[in-house]
Amino acid sequence: MEREMRRRRWLLWLTMAMAVAGSSGAVRGAEVTYDGRSLIIDRQRKILFSGSIHYPRSTPQMWPSLIKKAKEGGVDVIQTYVFWNLHEPWPGQYNFSGRYDLVGFINEIQAQGLYVCLRIGPFIEAEWAYGGFPFWLHDVPGIVFRTDNEPFKFYMQKFTTKIVNLMKSEGLYASQGGPIILSQIENEYQNIEAAFQEQGPSYVQWAASMAVGLNTGVPWVMCKQTDAPDPVINTCNGMRCGETFTGPNSPNKPALWTEDWTSFYEVYGKGPYIRSAEDIAFHAALFIAKMNGSYINYYMYHGGTNFGRTGSGYVITSYYDQAPIDEYGLKRQPKWGHLRELHAAVKNYSAPLLQGAKANFSIGPLQQAYVFEEETGGCVSFLVNNDPTNNATVQFRNISVELPPKSISILGDCNNVIFNTATVNVEGNTRTTTVSWKFDSDDKWEEFEDVIPHFSDTTLISGTLLEQMNTTKDISDYLWYTFRFQPNSSCNTPVLHVESHAHAAHAFVNDLHIGAAHGNHDVKVFTLEYPIPLQDDMNNISILSNMVGLPDSGAFMESKVAGLTQVEIQCDQNEVYNFTEYLWGYQVGLLGEKLQIYEEQNLEQVDWSSGTSLNQPLTWYKSVFDIPEGSEPLALNLSTMGKGEAWVNGQSIGRYWVSFLAPSGSPSQILYHVPRSFVEPSGNLLVLLEEDGGDPLGVTLVTVSTDDIKEKSSTPSPSIDTNSKYSLPDTRMRRGDLKFS
Ligand SMILES: *[C@@H]1O[C@H](CO)[C@@H](O)[C@H](O)[C@H]1NC(C)=O
Ligand SMILES: *[C@@H]1O[C@H](CO)[C@@H](O)[C@H](O)[C@H]1NC(C)=O
Ligand SMILES: *[C@@H]1O[C@H](CO)[C@@H](O)[C@H](O)[C@H]1NC(C)=O
Ligand SMILES: *[C@@H]1O[C@H](CO)[C@@H](O)[C@H](O)[C@H]1NC(C)=O
Ligand SMILES: *[C@@H]1O[C@H](CO)[C@@H](O)[C@H](O)[C@H]1NC(C)=O
Ligand SMILES: *[C@@H]1O[C@H](CO)[C@@H](O)[C@H](O)[C@H]1NC(C)=O
Ligand SMILES: *[C@@H]1O[C@H](CO)[C@@H](O)[C@H](O)[C@H]1NC(C)=O
Ligand SMILES: *[C@@H]1O[C@H](CO)[C@@H](O)[C@H](O)[C@H]1NC(C)=O
Ligand SMILES: *[C@@H]1O[C@H](CO)[C@@H](O)[C@H](O)[C@H]1NC(C)=O
Ligand SMILES: *[C@@H]1O[C@H](CO)[C@@H](O)[C@H](O)[C@H]1NC(C)=O
Ligand SMILES: *[C@@H]1O[C@H](CO)[C@@H](O)[C@H](O)[C@H]1NC(C)=O
Repeated sequence: MEREMRRRRWLLWLTMAMAVAGSSGAVRGAEVTYDGRSLIIDRQRKILFSGSIHYPRSTPQMWPSLIKKAKEGGVDVIQTYVFWNLHEPWPGQYNFSGRYDLVGFINEIQAQGLYVCLRIGPFIEAEWAYGGFPFWLHDVPGIVFRTDNEPFKFYMQKFTTKIVNLMKSEGLYASQGGPIILSQIENEYQNIEAAFQEQGPSYVQWAASMAVGLNTGVPWVMCKQTDAPDPVINTCNGMRCGETFTGPNSPNKPALWTEDWTSFYEVYGKGPYIRSAEDIAFHAALFIAKMNGSYINYYMYHGGTNFGRTGSGYVITSYYDQAPIDEYGLKRQPKWGHLRELHAAVKNYSAPLLQGAKANFSIGPLQQAYVFEEETGGCVSFLVNNDPTNNATVQFRNISVELPPKSISILGDCNNVIFNTATVNVEGNTRTTTVSWKFDSDDKWEEFEDVIPHFSDTTLISGTLLEQMNTTKDISDYLWYTFRFQPNSSCNTPVLHVESHAHAAHAFVNDLHIGAAHGNHDVKVFTLEYPIPLQDDMNNISILSNMVGLPDSGAFMESKVAGLTQVEIQCDQNEVYNFTEYLWGYQVGLLGEKLQIYEEQNLEQVDWSSGTSLNQPLTWYKSVFDIPEGSEPLALNLSTMGKGEAWVNGQSIGRYWVSFLAPSGSPSQILYHVPRSFVEPSGNLLVLLEEDGGDPLGVTLVTVSTDDIKEKSSTPSPSIDTNSKYSLPDTRMRRGDLKFS
């Protein structure tokens, strides 16, 4: 009795103490540790679902609703990379504002009650320009990236420390009362480790101890690094980590899955990769059941947009549009809803999963049971049917359960199917576009043909073909290679032959556009070959070499090459002029880029002529447009354009490439996201740089919506929180659940 009184008094005291701490705003840090079962936050084991959302791939205006939809979807953690090249564009000059406001993004996540996994890298790959490295790193004397190299380690440590100190100064680690429960150092290093021989393992050791030495108070992970040094946790990336993960490298580390790919990044020239909700759910459930998985991060949960020139080689601007939240921030159903049901089912049985004893046994030739059971009676089981085509009727604890092909049933209390990965109860939705502005008449456009430089216009001269990245320093995607040339005698049926390690090229002979060629994501070299008209006297040859993004991966990334590698003019069988070693003149970028004529204040720098020319290469087009009221996402439909870049009110919405068709015969991407925060109700400036030639009159501005949202938002309410109308529950009631009274 007395003991019970003491316990009550203690509980009362505890409640009061917590209330005081809460009301005084005192920050109480949560210790984050781990054991073989899970991460441990505030002395509690946790099953965590996580979703990757990359802050610069959307806008600060979109962050709250994206995070809200993730939370509603049963996500506990938001995982993001840190994008070094955005934050430190020049050595020692930092930028954390606007879309790069990392602290603001994390604060918003905390405000909504979610945790953060911060993948500092600082190598991130991520289909992002230079894998996230600022390009100036290329020019640090003696540097070799991602190995036991002093100059590299110096800058890696400096930036990692900068980020950790920034997080600490804002109190953002869980140990300080903030939301960050996990950090990542390096990224899938094992993929390239062997290339560095014995310096690979020593770099891994260094990176781990450098990170741990920063004393964040929360654990570090290394993904795809089976030998991650203690206390760093090795984690899995992939689509089937229940089958492929070799497991934690120590019995006291938990099984964490840092990248469960909900789709795959897309490149120009290919189609979308669609991974079903059923398949994602199956492998998530399998990871929990078989590997004792306790953290699963969807990569991506929202992919977003590669604005500007941030995408890596050939990557489209629409990033993981097939994720549970699509590029525009709309729920993609049934994916979003089906995973939400999985999360709810698993979460409801966290206790037996995290505290229970585990048993596994066969329940058929291709069927297994995994049972987690507490002494106190809590029980959950996962019944797996690996048969890809047939139902299986299995006996489990005296009940008979029918398992659909390739599915996992979760049995609450070990006797009641609460979720089956292949049984989708959520209705799908369809995304539609509605034209809201047409650019369909000549009087809406003005154009400017960019200038083709001749050798005599150039100031950068070299006796050889220069490597493109080292020459442009990534200030532009474009590098002009020019030379002048007079044939010894009359040249019969001349043919220009160019070999390139860049991504696309255009050839001009005496200002005449001769032709273009391009490579693709999988083959790194291409050839441009066209017959050309040559004069007997001096000719001006200008070749525009173009990169559709920097590389983002591979060993020795600092010594990758791009640009033209061989140039010849063949006059006939025996007469070949070889210009590989020749006097070349270079111009970095286009004139319009140099003058920044995509910005309102610079428009007057060039003479625009009214109207549009059809299929004219290397032309800038400008127009002005209004947007519709409301909050529906906006996009430009560029289906009639070729290849180039688009700016809205001076902000680049990315590189477009409509003329490069996927094997299906359709362009890889037609719609290009225009965030609402980039535009005003009226008078918005649109500038297109068209490289190949297109028809601007066919361009439209569209609103993007899904049918489920449209139904529920028939009355627009632009004045209130514009995000709220998207957050109505999407999980439709099952037919059987309808109750009539
Ligand atoms: C920082 O980045 C933002 C977002 O792109 C940009 O608007 C701003 O101009 C940059 N600030 C500086 C000082 O470069
Ligand atoms: C999962 O946890 C159980 C119980 O702690 C343990 O016996 C088993 O070996 C673990 N399985 C894996 C794959 O780690
Ligand atoms: C959650 O678990 C409780 C207790 O086992 C059970 O009664 C309830 O039906 C479960 N709810 C869901 C949605 O699984
Ligand atoms: C049970 O799990 C253990 C350890 O993961 C494994 O070796 C064994 O094959 C499993 N048995 C069945 C029937 O799945
Ligand atoms: C599996 O069983 C369900 C009913 O439980 C049935 O509708 C379905 O047709 C069966 N599928 C196969 C492949 O036998
Ligand atoms: C299954 O049924 C048998 C006989 O009816 C009974 O002895 C046994 O306890 C039951 N097992 C469970 C797990 O309910
Ligand atoms: C890059 O260009 C500089 C001259 O600007 C040259 O000295 C250096 O050798 C070049 N580096 C590479 C790797 O080509
Ligand atoms: C080549 O360029 C020079 C300098 O711009 C110009 O004077 C000359 O007329 C051009 N030749 C041809 C054939 O266009
Ligand atoms: C053109 O003339 C130069 C100098 O006389 C000679 O070296 C070169 O081989 C000639 N090229 C061709 C293709 O005839
Ligand atoms: C042109 O010259 C370069 C080096 O100067 C050489 O590597 C290349 O093989 C030559 N091309 C042909 C077709 O002979
Ligand atoms: C884009 O515009 C073209 C031409 O007007 C039209 O045929 C196509 O359906 C549009 N696509 C989308 C996704 O809006």
